[in-house]
Amino acid sequence: MTTPQQPLHSGFGAASTAQDVIKGIDLTGKVAIVTGGYSGIGLEASRVLRAAGADVVVPARDPERARAALTQADGVEIEEMDLIDPASVGAFAGKFLASGRPLDILIDSAGIMATPLRRDAHGYESQFATNHLGHFRLVNRLWPALVAARGARVISVSSRGIRFSPVVFEDLHFERRAYEPFLAYGQSKTANALFAVELDRRGRGQGVRAFAVHPGTIVDTGLAKHIPEESLRAAGALDEEGRPVRDPARQHKTVAQGAATGVWCATSPQLDGLGGVYCENCDISPLVTAEDEAGWRAHPGLPGVLPYAVAPQAAARLWEVSERLTA
Ligand SMILES: NC(=O)c1ccc[n+]([C@@H]2O[C@H](COP(=O)([O-])OP(=O)(O)OC[C@H]3O[C@@H](n4cnc5c(N)ncnc54)[C@H](OP(=O)(O)O)[C@@H]3O)[C@@H](O)[C@H]2O)c1
Repeated sequence: MTTPQQPLHSGFGAASTAQDVIKGIDLTGKVAIVTGGYSGIGLEASRVLRAAGADVVVPARDPERARAALTQADGVEIEEMDLIDPASVGAFAGKFLASGRPLDILIDSAGIMATPLRRDAHGYESQFATNHLGHFRLVNRLWPALVAARGARVISVSSRGIRFSPVVFEDLHFERRAYEPFLAYGQSKTANALFAVELDRRGRGQGVRAFAVHPGTIVDTGLAKHIPEESLRAAGALDEEGRPVRDPARQHKTVAQGAATGVWCATSPQLDGLGGVYCENCDISPLVTAEDEAGWRAHPGLPGVLPYAVAPQAAARLWEVSERLTA
């Protein structure tokens, strides 16, 4: 059954941390993979999942850096993987499958934002190729392990950046329009949201549920390296002294708060039997109606997802296109 895109009133909120939402949950015997689990909100998710007893695997394009970042999270396994390189994704997934373990939790947190125009070996635009196609490939390769878990959850880390662009099927790779870094980021994050919708539809019969997540604005991660400080200040993410603004009411969060929604989606019994929805502030987001859209765009703290980011037809179309692009 389709889960309504409407809040559950979970009792958690924008100020809840990853540790708050996982309190009392025992993940002993569960296996989790966290892409990007060595930086920013992914690092925090790896840490709390491990502390709750899960076996955690972090695929990293820089394993040495990952080892240094994860010294506090004893026992996290680190493997090599670069999402933009299909052979590397295949090798990582193949090694995991060969271990014979089921995969209970997959958090797709790795991502890049607003990069200058780059293309992968196929000529695909790099934000779409990394943020969406890399994870599409990974999930499909890991499918037998997800099914074997009999109750797996996949978390597709999206963003309020969905507001910048729908998926433009007519020109996914900016071959017929001028490249604009945030349009490309927005497109890739809308793709992350749509991916969760169709993945959940296809997976639910086999016990695989999927959720898309907007973590909030967390300025002190590695993500904003291509954004000038003046722009972060203008967006209200940094104060006059260049310090991160913390204001959960406007979704300006700490790393611990930013990791909370993904960890809640990955572990909360409140979401048993549900899936295919976009979440933020540790709850299912409301759908932004046409009537409310201008107000939602003007107030970054307001939760909500635009209909084009959770539309089942676009989600199905994206899946088919992604299959062709990764074949
Ligand atoms: N921070 C925010 O305000 C915010 C808001 C909305 C959504 N998000 C989303 O949250 C997720 C995590 O972001 P973050 O803020 O925690 O950023 P972050 O600290 O930069 O973490 C991103 C991680 O992704 C990894 N990564 C990037 N390209 C990769 C590739 N080709 N292969 C494998 N790993 C790769 C990075 O590894 P390297 O260090 O090796 O590059 C890093 O570990 C992203 O998907 C982002 O779009 C963040």
